[in-house]
Amino acid sequence: MTLEELEQGKAASLAEIAAAADAATVEKLRVKYVGRNGSIPALIKGMKDVPKEDRPAFGKAVQAWRAEVEAALAAKGTGADAQAGAPADVDATLPGRWAAPGTAHPLSRVIADAARIFGKLGFTVADGPDIESPFNNFTALNTPPHHPSQDRSDTFWLAADALLRTQTSPVQIRTMLAAKKPPVRVICPGRTYRRDTTDATHSANFHQIEGLYVDTKPVSLADLKSVLAYFAKEMMGNDGAGVRFRPHFFPFTEPSVEVDFTCHVCKGKGCNVCKQSGWIEIAGAGMVDPRVFGHVGWNPAEVSGYAFGFGVERIAMIKYGIPDIRWLYENDLRFLRQLA
Ligand code: DAH
Repeated sequence: MTLEELEQGKAASLAEIAAAADAATVEKLRVKYVGRNGSIPALIKGMKDVPKEDRPAFGKAVQAWRAEVEAALAAKGTGADAQAGAPADVDATLPGRWAAPGTAHPLSRVIADAARIFGKLGFTVADGPDIESPFNNFTALNTPPHHPSQDRSDTFWLAADALLRTQTSPVQIRTMLAAKKPPVRVICPGRTYRRDTTDATHSANFHQIEGLYVDTKPVSLADLKSVLAYFAKEMMGNDGAGVRFRPHFFPFTEPSVEVDFTCHVCKGKGCNVCKQSGWIEIAGAGMVDPRVFGHVGWNPAEVSGYAFGFGVERIAMIKYGIPDIRWLYENDLRFLRQLA
């Protein structure tokens, strides 16, 4: 096709569209000219057969044709509103029905934020069931049968070999067993259960996020500290946040630490939120205990790693200034809307 023929084709197509009297004809012309097998896409496909030196001018002309045809079609209206004669009982001037927009719950937001922040550091999200085996929840985590956390007054036992997980740490075990070999780098958010009496800071059903990094190259407490410091800054929106480790004990880590973030309210100066200390306790963590590796069949002489765990409710309460954990479960829209 020469440029001249192309211009003639364009004029004809525009005249045809201008003359179209109803929506069905407009639609037919749309298919004919710009549909998937329409004549304009066919011209674009045929560009390779146009002599090289003519191609730029030809291409420009075809694009102009397409733009004009689309504008002409749009001017005719191809949508439902162009359907000749809308039913007489439809009043198109009435405002539409309002659908209340929902927002994510604060707990969902903390979990999504954690997934995004740790995602930037190469962590993926792993999942585990609420009903666990005592092996995954206790034994493999180096927690002996006489440990108080296994007690009937602390754990919801469903049967001799089934319980409601008291922590997200069993997902560490599942992850290592499934991975077969390191490296693993996961966070595991989820529900956890303890026989706690509900009050302003306790709930029998709450949420935790577990973290685990294991590798064949040496992993250190300093690596853990830098990752948590980054998390502190990002999660609390506190650029100057630092991290402090205090010695602690957990059966599944050695050494174990409790982790404090610089208070995001006073930036460390001391205020009511941090009880004048400048620090807020946020997580438990440590280097994975060699006995835990033993339980998943990994040689502690060949692998090392760190683990951490924190409460989702606790982060939400600190971040959004929520004084009572129960507010997070009451689905009171007056409360939720304030945080939206
Ligand atoms: N599972 C602990 C708890 O529920 C939290 C925790 C502490 C998790 C230290 C860890 C860790 O992975 O290394 O209190």
